[in-house]
Amino acid sequence: MSEPEQKRIEDILKGEREVFKPSPEIVKNANIPDRSVVTAEAEEDFVKFWEERAKALEWYEPWDKVLDDSEAPFFKWFVNAKTNIVHNAIDRHLKTHRRNKIALIWEGENGDQVTMSYFRLNREVCKFANVLKSMGVKRGDRVTIYMGRVPELVIAMLATVKIGAMHSVVYGGFSTEALAERIEDARSRVLVTCDGAFLRGKVVNLKEIANEAVGRAGYVEHVVTVKRTGHDVEMEEGRDYWYHDLMSLPIASATCETEVMDAEDPLFILYTSGTTGKPKGVLHTHGGYQVHVSTTLSWVFDIKDDDRYWCAADPGWITGHSYIVYAPLILGTTSLLFEGAPNYPYPDRWWNLVEKYGINILYTAPTAIRGLMRFGDSWPERHDLSSLRIIGTVGEPINPEAWKWYHRVIGKEKCPIMDTWWQTETGGFMITPLPETPLKPGSGTKPFPGVFADVVRENGESCEPNEDGYLVLKKPWPGMLRTVYGDPDRYVEQYWSNFKEQGWYFTGDSARKDEDGYFWIIGRMDDVIKVSGYRLGTAEIESALVSHPSISEAAVIAVPDDVKGNVIHAFCIPTTGANPASEDELKLHVRKEMGPIAVPAKIEIVDSLPKTRSGKIMRRVLRAKAMGEPVGDLSTLAD
Ligand code: PRX
Repeated sequence: MSEPEQKRIEDILKGEREVFKPSPEIVKNANIPDRSVVTAEAEEDFVKFWEERAKALEWYEPWDKVLDDSEAPFFKWFVNAKTNIVHNAIDRHLKTHRRNKIALIWEGENGDQVTMSYFRLNREVCKFANVLKSMGVKRGDRVTIYMGRVPELVIAMLATVKIGAMHSVVYGGFSTEALAERIEDARSRVLVTCDGAFLRGKVVNLKEIANEAVGRAGYVEHVVTVKRTGHDVEMEEGRDYWYHDLMSLPIASATCETEVMDAEDPLFILYTSGTTGKPKGVLHTHGGYQVHVSTTLSWVFDIKDDDRYWCAADPGWITGHSYIVYAPLILGTTSLLFEGAPNYPYPDRWWNLVEKYGINILYTAPTAIRGLMRFGDSWPERHDLSSLRIIGTVGEPINPEAWKWYHRVIGKEKCPIMDTWWQTETGGFMITPLPETPLKPGSGTKPFPGVFADVVRENGESCEPNEDGYLVLKKPWPGMLRTVYGDPDRYVEQYWSNFKEQGWYFTGDSARKDEDGYFWIIGRMDDVIKVSGYRLGTAEIESALVSHPSISEAAVIAVPDDVKGNVIHAFCIPTTGANPASEDELKLHVRKEMGPIAVPAKIEIVDSLPKTRSGKIMRRVLRAKAMGEPVGDLSTLAD
């Protein structure tokens, strides 16, 4: 067992001993006061269960069939229904009291503010949808979006989808090669970006990176740039336009029909790291996804009509897609979007925002909690956090210390913590408490009703309580990915081949279930690394390292870190005859190619890498070396 796994097991054993029960008031007022009732309903007929949930939304035309599994694992949900997620996220609210309700409150790192009602959001989305149309974007096209956390990012996503195109959002923390690769794979003709973004008082030069990436990738004919930082940027005549210029042209009319889509038409592509090779374009569709994300948000975070909700993720990751953009808007919620870092200019920036905007629901990641916990209790204690009712976490296992701090200092021991387990591929929450669920620090508790998760052995038998095994999903669910964009074989191979006979989806995670049926996620079983909750693939980082002329081969591993969960350690072999670049230069190179999140904490130059006879790098041996531990059995080592 590796050190991170061992540490996680120790955490599990600590967390298991304590149970935190929600207050009777929370339970009484919850949208779902008793999970066993809805779970029983879902267990009796999960297809009917999801059909009932779909009825909460508006559809242009209803479905002929809820689930078509005739071409499994290419499942279809809400077959032949006509819809567009933008209809549910915006259009339908315009007919109700929500027309004038605030959809989005935005605060920039420098204190700039924007508030946008559903009415205004619709106008902006229509205007930009017309701009995209004027550039020839049509149904089925892909628009790549590479921006900081600004309202125009949300507008660009919704405008793309409104006219039947798909967005591919690339996180603003990625850099040139990562962006170029994603543009190329999606073959986007249009890129929407910003001149820059503010981060910790500095300007990140997004446009410069975008220009370089467009040069490398090809395909892009038009680049639209939002002016955020106002610094000088290079604009190419005939290709580049300012967002604000386009939005003031007559073509940017404030009315635009929402395109009628099939429930199974593609909604977006989101690239994520897998075991090998290039990132995969995870593809989601309109119909099932909207049902899954809106139901889960309503039940888990217990959204009420007058709530102020804040998911402090980045829209560029699935958490942002599902739970900053689509689900809250479908529920007609008021959300906060914040541009900056949690600790800038001071470590109470977030707590200041909670107080200032009266946030009722806060959803973030363990890494942010651990990072803020380090600054001590006095920063949150300066602020009135009494508006908070429910808080949440996602992205990686949360250790009991961080859980308890979050519960005591932020939640004042009255806010239940929703530890939601899910993935880019699942679209929405899969294993999660509801507000009524007794909590154990570090466990996501149980599968959401209508989700059939289990922990199994390699042969498919269910594990005994507290036995580690493969986390699988035994039945399809509406928010599931439909394919890997442009590579259906990879979809089958990656997710459906481990338990092919049984027809189960393999998550890539190991987990255990305790005597109470509570799930405990241990970690990834593949070469995916979680750094500060961000998902990275070893292959991408290694290929960034070897793209430096002085490096011929590289291997990276995850090493546990108290704040970030993991950090990256890299081992590099120099090119024959070359002097290897310094550690700093190599770090800078990875930053430039992949982005700051992928930069290894440590880079070691070595003569050789431990490999099996079939050439597979033995990361276990590298991990032992990095941690100064015994390397164990080396009988499969080639050399
Ligand atoms: O290993 C699990 C971990 O994050 C992986 C999915 O990463 P990504 O696609 O980036 O989506 C993250 C946000 C939904 C999972 O395979 N993970 C996610 N949530 C949790 C978690 N591990 C433990 N506890 C969680 N709550």
